[in-house]
Amino acid sequence: MYLEKLHLTNYRNYEKLSKNFSSQINILVGANAQGKTNLLEAIYYLAIGKAYRAVRDIQLTRWEQNHFIISGEIQNKMGSCNVAVFFQQPAESGGSAGQNTRVMGSKGRKEIKINGLKVRKMADFLGNLTAVLFAPEDLNIVKGAPIERRRLLDNDISQVSPSYYAQLQQYQKVLIQRNHLLKRIHEREKGLDELEIWDLQFLKLSEEIIQKRLQVLEKLSPLTRLMQRKLTKGKENLEFKYYFNRKRELKIGNPIKEILVQEMEQVKKEEIARGMTLWGPHRDDLIISLNSLDLKLYGSQGQHRTAVLAIKLAELEFFKSESGEYPILLLDDVLSELDLERREHLIKIIQEKMIQCFITTTEDLSFLWNDHSKIASYHVEKGTLQEYV
Ligand SMILES: Nc1ncnc2c1ncn2[C@@H]1O[C@H](COP(=O)(O)OP(=O)(O)O)[C@@H](O)[C@H]1O
Ligand SMILES: [Mg+2]
Repeated sequence: MYLEKLHLTNYRNYEKLSKNFSSQINILVGANAQGKTNLLEAIYYLAIGKAYRAVRDIQLTRWEQNHFIISGEIQNKMGSCNVAVFFQQPAESGGSAGQNTRVMGSKGRKEIKINGLKVRKMADFLGNLTAVLFAPEDLNIVKGAPIERRRLLDNDISQVSPSYYAQLQQYQKVLIQRNHLLKRIHEREKGLDELEIWDLQFLKLSEEIIQKRLQVLEKLSPLTRLMQRKLTKGKENLEFKYYFNRKRELKIGNPIKEILVQEMEQVKKEEIARGMTLWGPHRDDLIISLNSLDLKLYGSQGQHRTAVLAIKLAELEFFKSESGEYPILLLDDVLSELDLERREHLIKIIQEKMIQCFITTTEDLSFLWNDHSKIASYHVEKGTLQEYV
């Protein structure tokens, strides 16, 4: 699949953009703070239905404007389609409106369209464009907090499993309600009996989310292992393990529901004492091990980098196996960071598999390709794109 055309209105520092892209290599060259990352972020938005790294829609709206539009023409195995997101800010946002964030509708209004028709569910929108994003911060998948690894899973699953996005959103809502109730129970304003209804919902969503994560890991794990072996000539063995509440490994086929119920009963007293939920998929983690040692603790910087590249290559294959076609690849400032060998490996794969690629860089990188007919280069400056001809 590929993104043929992108239109932006009032998105970050883009006032108005309308550009055609190459179905293969697109190189975006420009100095810092000109809008290269913003462009990749906009494209990725169309793939996951939101900004990556929990940025709020309000922040994406061009300053002093009240709405943004991202719209993309996509060619995929189903033919061509247009996917668009329209976001309207809440009437009274901006300023020091911190208090307002609790008011209903203060998040603004988001509308999604396919071929010009409004769709109600994100599930109908997602999957038209799938994308893998690779940015320098991705080193945090290996080195950072558990949320980074959960985000990797969640962003990938949302693109291939239509209902997952809604389940995650629902989970967040129920979690907030449950926390609120636990606080009230702690303050003796509410009784324990009310917790039961929320527990049932919380349990059901937790189980569904964990099951999906395990299913996806079952596929992503061997692919990543294979990529790591290729990148290290068979020397390094990479493995993922899913850790429930950071203390117990879960595998596909385990009696997940029983395990969750057991944990829920075990921590309930403490939950009430502390007025917060102390278990659930929002507290789970992924342990990445290399030759049986925890990569985060024992890996070298070089091993971390290689592992992240292996994960990204595995994601490409994962999407291919799920949907039958390769996703597009967004490389934000990473090509110049890779050593020669890894860079050549990556470029070889992009070329062989004919993956559409968006590459941002501050220096000219076109010399990396021998066939220039497949490359379109753009100069990015202050939220405008000029194609080099
Ligand atoms: N909501 C916004 N409205 C207008 N400009 C923004 C907004 N958010 C970020 N910017 C601007 O976008 C620029 C950063 O763009 P970015 O894509 O990160 O640059 P780079 O080319 O270095 O990747 C900065 O100049 C920043 O001020
Ligand atoms: Mg950038």
